[in-house]
Amino acid sequence: MQFFLRIALLLAASLVFTFSGPLNASAMDVKVKLNPNGFTSSKVCAECHTQIYSNWKDSMHSRATSDPIFRASYYEAHYKSGGKARDLCLRCHAPTTKITKEYNLDGKITSEGLTCDFCHSLKAIDMKEDFPFVLDIGTVKYGPNKKGSDAKIHTIMKSKIHTSARLCASCHEYRPNGVAVMSTYSEWQNGPYALEGIPCQRCHMPEVEGEIAIGVTADRGKKVYSHKLAGGHSVVQLKKALTLEIASVQRAGGMMTVMANVTNSGSGHRVPTGIPTRKLILHCKVTLTNGKTFMEKKVYEKVLFDKDGNELTNDADIMMGLGDSIVKDNRIYPRETRSERFTFNIPDREEASISLWVDYLYQPKVIQDMEMRVEMGRAETISHPGGNKR
Ligand code: HEC
Ligand code: HEC
Ligand code: HEC
Ligand code: HEC
Ligand code: HEC
Repeated sequence: MQFFLRIALLLAASLVFTFSGPLNASAMDVKVKLNPNGFTSSKVCAECHTQIYSNWKDSMHSRATSDPIFRASYYEAHYKSGGKARDLCLRCHAPTTKITKEYNLDGKITSEGLTCDFCHSLKAIDMKEDFPFVLDIGTVKYGPNKKGSDAKIHTIMKSKIHTSARLCASCHEYRPNGVAVMSTYSEWQNGPYALEGIPCQRCHMPEVEGEIAIGVTADRGKKVYSHKLAGGHSVVQLKKALTLEIASVQRAGGMMTVMANVTNSGSGHRVPTGIPTRKLILHCKVTLTNGKTFMEKKVYEKVLFDKDGNELTNDADIMMGLGDSIVKDNRIYPRETRSERFTFNIPDREEASISLWVDYLYQPKVIQDMEMRVEMGRAETISHPGGNKR
């Protein structure tokens, strides 16, 4: 319904308005204008890049300032730091503010978080700078392809940065005072995918069927790089990451020993990655025929302490850089298989069914009663009385 309405409106628009300037009227010409001296709203890009826009709308990038969890923690950080958090947090969550000075999170451009025109005004990244983004703001759009004869509204420049993981590193690697608060980029760089030449984009911006702009197909075919950027907020993406296996079940002398293998088979970096308050919990549950259950778990996480030796559990404190040391980091490396042993006191004669599963857990401390828990994988088996293997 809405789709047809939209097409109808666009057609109506192109009948009524023609372009000012030296451009020819075509199906692409709609009554939109880019801001030649500043950032243009994503709603303008949406007129032509309809599919990319709706994918981006689904992403956390478009919610980088409207996300209620970010907001709560931002206001907390702002208050605690006497306002210093503003430049710090918005450098990644709304990097346009460096130029626009529009610090109101509900402002016209700032409310769009990490908006189209920021990424596509980037011509280089200079990681030596505090603000690593080298920008060219206006009517040139930088992207991964070589030419753009059909884009009459803006010129197109090919940029190396858009196909490189370094673009992502500018925000997905964060080391205040040398403490690796977020290390997604270096985890990738030190792992197998960097060696094989598979950047972040190949997994997070896969090609999906579609048009690059309304009525315009990319040179490589009817395919477009997805802008959904699925990550920890996507159940589908989370389920790609891990493979679980019950390797063996040993029973002797009233003890049952379950050996479990957890493999990071699909994630390009450690699991979990990113903001340290995300945890992975491996559960092993044994149920006897009489209904009695036994549970054990292992937790995979990065734990930060402040300078007084207190554990940091709050996103605002962590992201403000109060971490002084990393006291634990047992997250699973890309393609690593972690073997774990679980032991239970269970009589050898009892039949027992064994379940193994992994939960991804995020419990932001800022909002009461809020918890995100996703099951990432499961394996099950039954151990028969006296039997050893499955
Ligand atoms: C009037 C329609 C129109 C509007 C509005 C528009 N674009 Fe485009 N854009 C196009 C067309 C058409 C292409 C494809 C050109 C080609 O491949 O020949 C394109 C291509 C691109 C590319 C691809 C570059 C590459 O490497 O191929 C980027 C990036 C881009 N636009 C960004 C933007 C951004 C950001 C905005 C909003 C600020 C925007 N565009 C607004 C029509 C538009
Ligand atoms: C200008 C900073 C910036 C750049 C550049 C950037 N990101 Fe992000 N990204 C963010 C922020 C901020 C969030 C979190 C928004 C929120 O949750 O409030 C995020 C979220 C994500 C998520 C979703 C995580 C989740 O929890 O679901 C993925 C995946 C992601 N980014 C991948 C990438 C990739 C891949 C690139 C490079 C192509 C990239 N990002 C470039 C700042 C950036
Ligand atoms: C986090 C930065 C980021 C944001 C935000 C972003 N893009 Fe992109 N965009 C990229 C990257 C990176 C690529 C290239 C992906 C690749 O080569 O694998 C790309 C590719 C493109 C292309 C070329 C697509 C193709 O298949 O060739 C267009 C057009 C485009 N973006 C438009 C937009 C529009 C419109 C928006 C907002 C609705 C937007 N982008 C938001 C980073 C971004
Ligand atoms: C081989 C595919 C692959 C590559 C390469 C890859 N990722 Fe991921 N990424 C995943 C999968 C699968 C997940 C979901 C499981 C998880 O959280 O690790 C994920 C999750 C994420 C998340 C969400 C973390 C969370 O818990 O919210 C972010 C952010 C992210 N990736 C960024 C990146 C960046 C930045 C790069 C490049 C430096 C990259 N990824 C490279 C597959 C990949
Ligand atoms: C270097 C870039 C960077 C800086 C600086 C930064 N963030 Fe973020 N933030 C990110 C990225 C990237 C993510 C997504 C990571 C992931 O999903 O693993 C994120 C995610 C978050 C989240 C989780 C949101 C959710 O819904 O999952 C919160 C909360 C947050 N940031 C708060 C803050 C606060 C508060 C500040 C300032 C004190 C801040 N951040 C500074 C890049 C940054």
